[in-house]
Amino acid sequence: MMEHETSPVADSPAFPSSSSARSSLPRPPWFARPAARSWTCAPPPADAHAFHAALPGYTPTALHEPPTLAAELGVARVFVKDESERLGLPAFKALGASWAIHRVLAAASDDRRLCLVTATDGNHGRAVAKMARQLGLRAHVFVPEGVHPAAAAAIAGEGAEVTTVAGSYDAAVRRAADAAGAPDAVLIQDMAWDGYEEVPALIVEGYATLFSEVDAQLAAAGAPSPSLVVVPVGVGSLAQAAVAHYRSRRSVTTAAGEAPAALLSVEPEVAACVLGSLRAGRPTSVETGVTTMAGLNCGTPSTLAWPALRDGLDAAIAIRDADSAAAMRDLADLGVSSGPCGAASLAGARAALTGEGSAGRRAALDIGAASTVVLISTEGAAAATPSEAPQAREDPV
Ligand SMILES: Cc1ncc(COP(=O)(O)O)c(C=O)c1O
Repeated sequence: MMEHETSPVADSPAFPSSSSARSSLPRPPWFARPAARSWTCAPPPADAHAFHAALPGYTPTALHEPPTLAAELGVARVFVKDESERLGLPAFKALGASWAIHRVLAAASDDRRLCLVTATDGNHGRAVAKMARQLGLRAHVFVPEGVHPAAAAAIAGEGAEVTTVAGSYDAAVRRAADAAGAPDAVLIQDMAWDGYEEVPALIVEGYATLFSEVDAQLAAAGAPSPSLVVVPVGVGSLAQAAVAHYRSRRSVTTAAGEAPAALLSVEPEVAACVLGSLRAGRPTSVETGVTTMAGLNCGTPSTLAWPALRDGLDAAIAIRDADSAAAMRDLADLGVSSGPCGAASLAGARAALTGEGSAGRRAALDIGAASTVVLISTEGAAAATPSEAPQAREDPV
């Protein structure tokens, strides 16, 4: 059974607050379930990594170890997985889109006339559009009205038809699902709902490559397996991939006796649907607002991700745009290009591991001075496209 809101109280900060604006503010929205660390699941299929490795232009994205972050977060080592350059795009999303499209086309009897349809806050749609162009296929991408014109233009620049939908990301998903009912259309969506789970499952399989790369890169850096992995969350598919990776490979303890990684999700305060769902103990939609973290501005968790997140995620935290902006600037100063969604990982780690109440949060995550932390920076600064308009929640499909 799930425990709710288990942040033990600490009277004074275990570590000083960061340079972000968090210091003077109350404790961040937080949920912890330390029992998740002993939960196990089946490993994801291994085929996606070999597929990606054979793609033209594939190279593992960088894993940086910026010098000052470990001291700031009160741990031994901090690594940043830098997805600012992934298969020619400034975000990690092409990993999922490329693998899912490859598998969908392999199963299609005649793929030449197919139109790939999707909805997006920016990065996923651009990845689908780019894959379609490379394969000589059409793409139709639906974007919510709050998506920045530059993001829509980047998708159109890949040759896709772009349709702007009045309303939220969830509304755009519903429109895309309707459009994919047309002959020769196929929906390539990075979130699942009842009756639509096959393609999202493939997308999550594709994301596994990112975590396999981290394994190899930590080993090459002489680092232990991570004590904490921090993942930005929209609908939760990337976090689902993290759960599948770390809860299958390091089920209870590793051969070397290392504890399994704690997994922390980070969402904008205005779109914290996974945090809200964990607190409620069931998938819950929230009304989203305006945030610079456009790719995280999602109001409903993926149904496929939900059981994995419920059982395998240790903690969830929510941050504000100012926290992400400060992290983005600090990462840039450290030589890491990170957009608002990508920098959410550092902002979330700061909010969890420093400041008021951090002793309790660190205890829940089992993080101490000897810990190694991996921050997944899911996009580069070039992907930054702030949302412009308030978005009302609607049910996705
Ligand atoms: C840059 C970036 N980071 C993180 C996410 C969150 O991924 P998910 O929706 O799978 O939680 C997205 C989603 O679009 C994204 O574009």
